[in-house]
Parts: sequence; structure tokens; C-alpha cells
Amino acid sequence: MSQLRVGVIGYGYWGPNVVRNLYALEACQVTALCDKNPAALQKALRVYPGLRTTTDERELLTSPDIDAVAIVTPVWTHYPLAKMALENGKHVFVEKPFTATAQQAEELVELADRKNLRIMVDHTFLFTGAVKKIRELVDKGVLGPLYYFDSSRINLGLFQHDVSVVWDLAPHDLSIMDYVIRDKAEAVVATGGGHVNDRADMAFLTVYFPNKVLAHINVNWLSPVKVRTTLIGARDKMLVWNDLEADEKIKVYDKGVTVTGAEGVYDLLVSYRSGDVWAPKVDQTEALKAELGYFLECIDSGATPFNDGQAGLRVVRMLEAADKSLAERGKAILL
Ligand SMILES: NC(=O)c1ccc[n+]([C@@H]2O[C@H](COP(=O)([O-])OP(=O)(O)OC[C@H]3O[C@@H](n4cnc5c(N)ncnc54)[C@H](O)[C@@H]3O)[C@@H](O)[C@H]2O)c1
Repeated sequence: MSQLRVGVIGYGYWGPNVVRNLYALEACQVTALCDKNPAALQKALRVYPGLRTTTDERELLTSPDIDAVAIVTPVWTHYPLAKMALENGKHVFVEKPFTATAQQAEELVELADRKNLRIMVDHTFLFTGAVKKIRELVDKGVLGPLYYFDSSRINLGLFQHDVSVVWDLAPHDLSIMDYVIRDKAEAVVATGGGHVNDRADMAFLTVYFPNKVLAHINVNWLSPVKVRTTLIGARDKMLVWNDLEADEKIKVYDKGVTVTGAEGVYDLLVSYRSGDVWAPKVDQTEALKAELGYFLECIDSGATPFNDGQAGLRVVRMLEAADKSLAERGKAILL
């Protein structure tokens, strides 16, 4: 694989993680870094002396010696930056959420297709050992047919000034849900509110899928405790993923319910099964490193990443639907 020349835009909170992981990949050379804020560039230069830096994104986006760009800036800038990158023949790695509107996402997907360029949306959790293991268990049929996906991502802050808690935190859960359930979501219901300013700081999302499969997502910046727990209920097994656990992040419970004697409702016999619990081994590789390595591989081979622009678009559509539903106090919005 030849070395790919990557430029990075945005060196705030998340950007340093992207730059650090790109530096660690042999197949890549970080060619330049852009941030509007000179102090951010100074910070980067202390870690990477000699790195080419600029405050002008056009310089990076039009540079002939850059093959791909990583866009690690606030969501409202993703569309203009990605569009300019694609127009200048560069592959794009862009942060979640992909864009501020579904229309922008559709346009970028179409542009990338037309120019035969790759878009990868940073749905980092899909590259964690835990999510890879969950997907494997679902794919192998270990859990049986899915009943529900129930995810809590709550803590105190970090309040974002440009987006609500839905656009900040729910892209993680929606992308994981989309990856694990793999069916087409039908409708979104969202309730929630903004207590500190006008933007929602807590929200409950319900996503409806065919065959009575339900997803529920609880995102909250006003929780006194930090919780990162996902329950997956299925016919044969039930799974709990606690991302705050250091070792046994995933536990699979051989628990379930069998209904017998369904002659009439009063004759219903429900038997509960309570068997073993096991904790499968989960790969500990840093997710962002695996993801960026995969981005370089996809560019090299021409393969379409599974977390491509279409995957980003599906998440943005659900975020837009959640906003509409929130504004109407939980009206179901069809997708
Ligand atoms: N994948 C993850 O787990 C994860 C985690 C955190 C943030 N994010 C995403 O990363 C993105 C950035 O978030 P953040 O928390 O790092 O934000 P931030 O505000 O801390 O940093 C953004 C940086 O981009 C710079 N910037 C803004 N507009 C620019 C432009 N037009 N050209 C050049 N530089 C520009 C700012 O000066 C700032 O340094 C968001 O989309 C966020 O959702 C993803």
C-alpha cells in the first residue's frame, strides 16, 4: 500500500486524537493541519514540530499534494468543507454527525459517487471491540431474533454551544443501532427539553423497526452520574454492554421467556429461563486507530466503507426526524 497524504482540518477537542492516530499509521503521512484558531496550531506544533500548518482551509483543500482530508470541525462546517474537498478530488473522512441536514448529506454522497471518491463518517464506536463482538453475536444468531435495543448515554455536560444533546450524543447510539439491527428504521418518536438554554439537554428517542423491533435511546447532559449502558433483548439470549467496565464490558445472559398454553389469556403459562452468564473476550485496540487504518485501506482498494456517506445520511435523517418529533412533543415521524 503506497503512503497516502492526509490533511486534517480542526484541532480542538477531537482533532488531536485523529492526528495522533494518523501519525501512528505507516500507510499515511500527515501532510498539513488547518485550524482557524492559531492557538490550536501552536498546540499541535509543540507535539509535531515541523508539521505544515495553516489557518486557511482553502490552502489545504486545494493543495495538489493532499489525497484525503479529515474534517474534525463543528457540524455546521462539515458540508462546505467536505464539498470543497470532493470538488478538489480528495477523499473525505468526516466527523459525526455527517452534516447538518439530510439534503446536504445526499448532495455529498452524490458528488463523491460522481467523482469516484470515498466518504467515511467517523462512527467511532463501530470500531470498538464491544460493538464488533455484539455484531458478531447477532450475525451468528447467538441471541436469536432481536426484540429491542435500549441505550443510555448520560452524564453531566459537556454542554455544546452549537448543537443539542441529540445531535451531539445520539449519533453514537443511532450508528450502533443501525449497525447492529441492520433493518430499515420506519419511524422516530422523540421527547425531551432544554432546561439550561433553548437546545434540548435531555431526550428520549424511540426508533421503530419492522417485526416489532424497537430501539430506545436516552441521551442527557444533566445527569448526576455517568452511564454508558446498552441492553439488547432477544428471543434466545439477552446482552448487557457496560462501556464503563474495564474488563467484562459485555455480558450475555441465557435468560428468556417462553409462553405456553395460549388457549385463553387466563391460561397463559409463562416460564422464565435463567441460565448461565458469560463475558466474551473483547478486542481492546483503540477504535479510532482501527477506523483510520480501514479508511486508508478503502481508498487503496477502492472498496466502499460500511460507515460511508449513506450510513452517515441514515443517521442524519433520524436526527432530523427526532428534531421534528421533539418540536411536536413526541409525534411519530415516518422516515
Ligand atoms: N467520534 C467521536 O467520538 C467524537 C468525539 C468528539 C467530537 N466529535 C465530533 O468532532 C467534531 C469536532 O468536535 P470538537 O469537540 O473537537 O469541537 P471543538 O470546537 O473542540 O474543535 C473544533 C476545532 O475546529 C476549528 N474550526 C472550526 N471551523 C473551522 C474551519 N472552517 N476551518 C478550520 N478550523 C475550523 C476550531 O477552531 C476548533 O479548534 C464534531 O463534529 C463532533 O461531533 C466526535
